[in-house]
Amino acid sequence: MTIRSVILGAGCYLPQRILTNAELAKMVDTSDEWIVQRTGIHQRRIAAAGEVTSDLALHAARAALADAKVDPKSIDLIVLGTSTPDNTFPATAVSVQAGLGITQGAAFDIQAVCSGFVYGLSIVDALLRTGAHKRALLIGAETFSRILDWTDRTTCVLFGDGAGAVVLEAQEQPGAMTDRGVLTTHLRSDGQHKNKLYVDGGPSSTQTVGHLRMIGKEVFRHAVAMITDVVEDAFKATGASAKTIDWFVPHQANKRIIDGSVHKLGIDPAKVVITVDRHGNTSAASIPLALCEGIADGRIKRGDLVLLEAMGGGFTWGAALVRM
Ligand code: UT7
Repeated sequence: MTIRSVILGAGCYLPQRILTNAELAKMVDTSDEWIVQRTGIHQRRIAAAGEVTSDLALHAARAALADAKVDPKSIDLIVLGTSTPDNTFPATAVSVQAGLGITQGAAFDIQAVCSGFVYGLSIVDALLRTGAHKRALLIGAETFSRILDWTDRTTCVLFGDGAGAVVLEAQEQPGAMTDRGVLTTHLRSDGQHKNKLYVDGGPSSTQTVGHLRMIGKEVFRHAVAMITDVVEDAFKATGASAKTIDWFVPHQANKRIIDGSVHKLGIDPAKVVITVDRHGNTSAASIPLALCEGIADGRIKRGDLVLLEAMGGGFTWGAALVRM
């Protein structure tokens, strides 16, 4: 027998306001045609004035707890992936903790940009498997609209706001690849690429929040190779393959990157969950948002083998295999 981190439920939240490509074309020199052709994005959500990352996270967390049918008071670990925290400190996770009325266990944020959910999954899985914690909330939540330069057409058309969450529980499983739960996680980073996607401000450098800057072509150039490399590691570690996975839930940055990875890995396109067309890139929130959508619409079912992958600023990247 072995301890596995089993996903008990998932929830998500999108702000009400939809920002379309047509609206963006009135703000910067762009067009619906360019955005759709280069990225697959048609629209994205934008948080309301005064609506902060922890508000989005709290909605998603409550939805995940309801889906899992567990009492918030039974949660003893909250890990929140974000690059757009409410404040420099305390962690946005503690605002979620307070909002849920939880006073036990631990709550903290992790910062791995778009890889935040996969990094968080790996951390939560490790903490549950040691026995240190029993039941966790893992959240990806972002308000990237607050760090975009709305005069820069090369970045402002790409991102959106949102949050997704899952509840995970430590459970005894037989110790086979047919187990429910997180079967493997693989994390990578390479700081040599840190200036290709970054925010040009911060408490220690400029004492300002700053704006997102990206050499999109450079990120694009590395993305498919990095994603497929780390996914192959996950396949090797488990004996799974493109044929045996039921669903592929990739980070939603650009439909062309997803298509390139799917093609290179030999995954059936019918197994891919896509939300980038409606959400844009929501960074750490994109995977749990897509996972939540796939579960809610009945595609992803209990027992399904799901492949997750992400790549983003740092660069950071990673992959995980989870049986629902
Ligand atoms: O989560 C991970 C983070 N991000 C990513 O994964 C993003 C990775 N990169 C990408 O998705 C793509 O590189 C972009 C979508 C950002 C850009 O697509 P691209 O095919 O690499 O275009 P490009 O940067 O080579 O730009 C082509 C042209 C340029 O004009 P010139 O120099 O050829 O005259 C750009 O100035 O498109 C222009 N351009 C635009 N035109 C209309 C750039 N942004 C826009 C825009 N609307 N919004």
